Amino acid sequence: MKLKILFSFFIISLSLYACNGNNSSSNNTTEEKPVVNVKTPIAEIKGQVIFEQKCAACHGNDGTAGIGNAANLRASRFDSTSIVKTINEGKRAMPPFGSQLTKREIADISSYVLSLHK
Ligand code: HEC
Repeated sequence: MKLKILFSFFIISLSLYACNGNNSSSNNTTEEKPVVNVKTPIAEIKGQVIFEQKCAACHGNDGTAGIGNAANLRASRFDSTSIVKTINEGKRAMPPFGSQLTKREIADISSYVLSLHK
């Protein structure tokens, strides 16, 4: 009997905890600082990793290096469709990457490149 009461108390506190977790505006006490910046979408982070491997040689890690006349990706106003097309097909001195990367990877890189525009 005692166990049953204890168990239901456990369930109630669990569900209270879950509700609290979804409601970020209330009870934001000091000790719950996120370790990573939770506002950065995961696609952008994955895209950045691939960007640094495949694209940074010309564009630099932050998109501004301009090696071999590579476009400054911070100044660029390409939308995601144009970025994906450029990665797939290349553009003048820029080689195409369509055969080396998956669609998912290209979409992730595109998110990262878009984040550089800010
Ligand atoms: C061999 C060097 C090189 C590499 C590697 C390279 N680029 Fe480029 N990229 C260029 C050059 C050069 C241009 C400018 C093309 C032009 O308009 O003449 C360019 C242009 C672009 C543009 C068009 C921007 C604009 O406003 O015109 C985008 C977007 C872009 N690159 C993204 C990427 C991404 C993403 C990668 C990695 C998958 C990548 N590039 C890898 C050289 C490179």
